[in-house]
Amino acid sequence: MWIALRAHHGAIKDRRFETLVDAARAADFTVQAGDMVLDYAKTNIDETARKLLIDLLDQAGVAAKRDAMFSGAPINETEGRAVLHTALRNLDGGPVMVDGANVMEGVLATLDRMGSFARDVRSGAFTGQGGQITDVVNIGIGGSDLGPAMAVRALAPYHDGPRCHFVSNVDPADIAQVLRGCDPATTLVIVASKTFTTIETMTNAQTAKAWMGETVENPAAQFAALSTSDEKTMAFGIDPSRVFGFEDWVGGRYSMWGPIGLSLMMAIGPDAFRAFLRGAQAMDTHFRAADWSENMPALLALVGIWHNQVCGHATRAVLPYDNNLARLPAYLQQLEMESNGKGVSMDGADLTVQSGPVVWGEPGTNGQHAFYQLIHQGTRVIPCEFLVAARGHEDDLHHQHQLLVANCLAQSEALMKGRDLDTARAKVADKFAGDELERQARHRVFPGNRPSTTLAYPQLDPFTLGQIIALYEHRVFVEGVVLGINSYDQWGVELGKELATALQPVVEGTQSADGKDGSTAALVGFLRNNGV
Ligand code: F6P
Repeated sequence: MWIALRAHHGAIKDRRFETLVDAARAADFTVQAGDMVLDYAKTNIDETARKLLIDLLDQAGVAAKRDAMFSGAPINETEGRAVLHTALRNLDGGPVMVDGANVMEGVLATLDRMGSFARDVRSGAFTGQGGQITDVVNIGIGGSDLGPAMAVRALAPYHDGPRCHFVSNVDPADIAQVLRGCDPATTLVIVASKTFTTIETMTNAQTAKAWMGETVENPAAQFAALSTSDEKTMAFGIDPSRVFGFEDWVGGRYSMWGPIGLSLMMAIGPDAFRAFLRGAQAMDTHFRAADWSENMPALLALVGIWHNQVCGHATRAVLPYDNNLARLPAYLQQLEMESNGKGVSMDGADLTVQSGPVVWGEPGTNGQHAFYQLIHQGTRVIPCEFLVAARGHEDDLHHQHQLLVANCLAQSEALMKGRDLDTARAKVADKFAGDELERQARHRVFPGNRPSTTLAYPQLDPFTLGQIIALYEHRVFVEGVVLGINSYDQWGVELGKELATALQPVVEGTQSADGKDGSTAALVGFLRNNGV
């Protein structure tokens, strides 16, 4: 199938796809899920390419693997685990069995406990030692940070709880700056760590405990924990009533739907949090039921595969024209690159196609004044993925929102159409002549023929955010199955962690740098000479 896809790409790659984009194509190459639409008409994918891509899904057995995932089979084969983040939002679905036991009872009970605690914190029934909780500090990293941090920002218009802060980096600058703005007597610290061993999180948690202990008598009483390890949270001194557990079948980067979402629940309240879960659940239902040709996550995955593995475009830009989604690119970097950045397939053989793409981006219109120059005129093609809401939340500034939307649509149009030399010449013909006109005109040519997709939705409310995030999760799943990799492990983060542990005494000067490579030893030398 890859051979047929490459052959087809070879045959069509030089055509201008804008010539295809009439109203019929716009309808045919737009897919709807709930109240969202994904337009992939502004790509070079035609009916033949789409059919070949859909054949890839069948060849890879995506439907069977999808059903296996939802039913609790251990599809994370290298760790022997089920992959069941979908159970966390299965609010009114049926039982989900893992090793013969229905996990839904535990999931719903934990969600209820989180709800009670969040209500108590928000109402003041639970207080700090100096009164009502004013600030919540979530300490976590990777999946225990990026999801809730992204979502709290995304749903800022719905925020009616305590202020929420996120500390992730082991760099002391991170925690110091956050704590400086908080009162220890009215701050709740949430230690979010699936394993409760991650060095950054545990170091920051100890720092926060010491900071709080300088002011309040019982700092641990203002701590909550989100983890799979009761033993370790207990050893840290956190009362089990404020420990919210989950199982190892929830991957870190897929975990915001359960306890790891507690900070989001504190911010927007348990009811809005449930709406967020319902949005994700709606996308799950769509993903399980829709034919591939109308299945939004599957088609988004196939667009990604077409651009990366078939056309050879190594990166994709995520460009939300929705400032509240400012952290979405960072969130997707982990979701996509930690999931599909693998060089071997499930059976241990080398991948015969490229792994997942480099994902990056910034909100529009900011990016337009920064890196869009390269997107429009650089020598590499960067497929762009736009997101845009019909309405913002600033009713009195709707006109300004319309300007935002116009900018979003203008960018995808400009990428597709470009500007040819004749048009560029005409633009500057009144200012230059002869060779200078030619030179100046060439700088104003836009090659065009650059692909993009646009995900459009009515408004970024909790339900819609749930839909969007579940859409990307399932996209990652589909891409992973087609590539034949395990999207749910992350062995590639281990080596750096091991070496950091070994290097710490060298950096501290209690162990010599002998045996280290020359470059590392020299850098240690420089940093030690400068006070590390
Ligand atoms: O090191 C990578 C990683 O394991 C991520 O997959 C995970 O989201 C992050 O670290 C944090 O892990 P934990 O929640 O166990 O602290």
